[in-house]
Amino acid sequence: SKSKITVIGSINMDLVTSTSRIPKVGETLLGDSFHTIPGGKGANQAVAAARLGADVTMIGAVGDDSFGEMLVSNLTNQGINTENIIRVQDCCTGIASITISDRDNSIIVVPGANSHVTPDMIEKNEDKIKNSDILLLQLEIPLESVIRAVELAKKHNTLTILNPAPVMELPMELLGMVDYLTPNEHEQMLLFASTDGTEKELEKLKEKCIVTKGSKGVILYSNGNDVKIPSIPVEAVDTTGAGDSFNGALAFSLCEGMKIEDACRFANVVGAISVTKLGAQNGMPTKKEVEEFLEANKLI
Ligand code: RIB
Ligand code: NA
Repeated sequence: SKSKITVIGSINMDLVTSTSRIPKVGETLLGDSFHTIPGGKGANQAVAAARLGADVTMIGAVGDDSFGEMLVSNLTNQGINTENIIRVQDCCTGIASITISDRDNSIIVVPGANSHVTPDMIEKNEDKIKNSDILLLQLEIPLESVIRAVELAKKHNTLTILNPAPVMELPMELLGMVDYLTPNEHEQMLLFASTDGTEKELEKLKEKCIVTKGSKGVILYSNGNDVKIPSIPVEAVDTTGAGDSFNGALAFSLCEGMKIEDACRFANVVGAISVTKLGAQNGMPTKKEVEEFLEANKLI
């Protein structure tokens, strides 16, 4: 049976400029190339899970512009249920203006329609949350909506994964409710520094964290021990969406019944494969492609 994952989150069009270096303040540079590519952390994570074979529903909002139309059909074409995506009148679809250079990248996100994913809209989708095995969330929709979604998931015993990106101060009440948190190193530091929890609460929090550290691999805390999963060396073309690939794959593998450590190992491989192509969603592998990669690289 296919696993049921609901993703509630952002849907963006990524406007990707490649350049030799990031311009200085006030400077004009000639760039190398420009691409318009589907993105948004929510949509990316939904695509990652769907490519692997999961039964995925995406809940979110787009504007009434051409980007919105393109993004919804992109999701539909990958077999994702898009019935619960709303189209907001007189509103622009979310965009991310991304600049990629050889050394680093920088991103500006304009939420647009994503800010119309309100707590009210979440409540209308209570049944979807109830009937899912896993609810996957990020922080590109209003925080109060994320909180409402986690409350409803808790009420119906649906497992929750919160990818705390882009990072912001989060109430202990929310952190206490989620089952897994998947910050990167930087997000983890900020989360722990800004939260007002007691020592006991912070210890509990540490136990739900799966920390993605890029080239330094993944760390999870399982039964009081640090488990280190080494990164997989690949030729990185574009690291945008690597975290999203990890999260989508994590949801998929947990749904398939894998133990948390094995699920993280699998998601680590999916994240690595995804960075070998330009664009957040472009490199995301199918399950077969993951298996072929593991074999070709003598990892199994
Ligand atoms: O995580 C990568 C994503 O963040 C991009 O696709 C962009 O849309 C931003 O939301
Ligand atoms: Na990619």
